[in-house]
Amino acid sequence: MKTKVKRKKKMRINYSKSGKRGGVEKQLAALAGIIDRSLLEYVSEKKEYPPVIYRAMKYSIFAGGKRLRPAMLLLSAKACGLSFTDAMPAACAVEMIHTYSLIHDDLPAMDDDDMRRGKPTSHRKFGEAVAILAGDALLNRAFETFFRCRFNKRIKPENILASAACLAGASGVNGMIGGQVLDINSENKRISRDALSVLHEKKTGALIKASVVCGAMLAGAGPGALKKFSVYGEKAGLAFQITDDILDVTGDEKKMGKKVNKDAAAFKSTYPAVYGLERSAAMARELTAGACSAMGKTDSNTRALADIALFITGRNF
Ligand code: IPE
Ligand code: IPE
Ligand code: MG
Ligand code: MG
Ligand code: MG
Repeated sequence: MKTKVKRKKKMRINYSKSGKRGGVEKQLAALAGIIDRSLLEYVSEKKEYPPVIYRAMKYSIFAGGKRLRPAMLLLSAKACGLSFTDAMPAACAVEMIHTYSLIHDDLPAMDDDDMRRGKPTSHRKFGEAVAILAGDALLNRAFETFFRCRFNKRIKPENILASAACLAGASGVNGMIGGQVLDINSENKRISRDALSVLHEKKTGALIKASVVCGAMLAGAGPGALKKFSVYGEKAGLAFQITDDILDVTGDEKKMGKKVNKDAAAFKSTYPAVYGLERSAAMARELTAGACSAMGKTDSNTRALADIALFITGRNF
């Protein structure tokens, strides 16, 4: 009698022609598919108790994000010789931290938003206390997950530690949290152009830069490669937040899955407020060009990263 052996689906992506808008969106959707499978595994338990916190974590994680940051981590790791499977726990950790930052960003004490990823925000659905705790839970689960990276011939313990430390730093006071403090403290104020770029680099740029650098670190990349990914991540990260600011003015609420025209109403310090829309768009395009040239086009993974940088400024969601 033949026994059926259930094979684990391989984490493989077929790259379509690079540079095309549809192409990069397809690649991202394919990566999002394999990321989501792993995320579900990492946020699920046999016994989910208390149930409401698991429901809240899954509600926000699976509300439909673009999965840009974990995709970037997987691609940089792969470009440096590490498989998607080996880098997947770290990629999922980045997405959990990003999702936690969104839950907290939307709270009444922060941006006070009602919609996120096309659905009511976590505090609207579960109440503020559970939303705060769901964010905290995702942050902690992120590092629990990161340390599930398995040591083997390709992935050394010291690379896992260095990469996790990089992610912790980028998410903390010197990165995302510091940036969120600057963002809140810069409402109703005119801040200098230098202060604006520091704010954006920290609140959003740091986690995007860390995503690509963490992937390369995990793979044990040398200083030359790390520098290249760091320049790419820094430029793409700032271009990302400038574009987010632009889309708050020009974007469509349905496509974005969140309310628009919120920044001006809250007197936020944004690129369009300081430079105007046209100049902001030109700055984002220039940063993207810099990110692409830092990446070069050495293999399908760095080509895909360059395409993602182009997508970041060309997107409408
Ligand atoms: C939105 O990030 C929050 C910012 C940092 C500006 P994304 O636009 O990547 O959000 P999702 O993950 O696709 O929902
Ligand atoms: C959020 O920036 C950055 C985070 C750290 C989450 P925004 O406040 O501009 O993000 P959106 O527009 O609400 O997604
Ligand atoms: Mg905010
Ligand atoms: Mg916000
Ligand atoms: Mg915004």
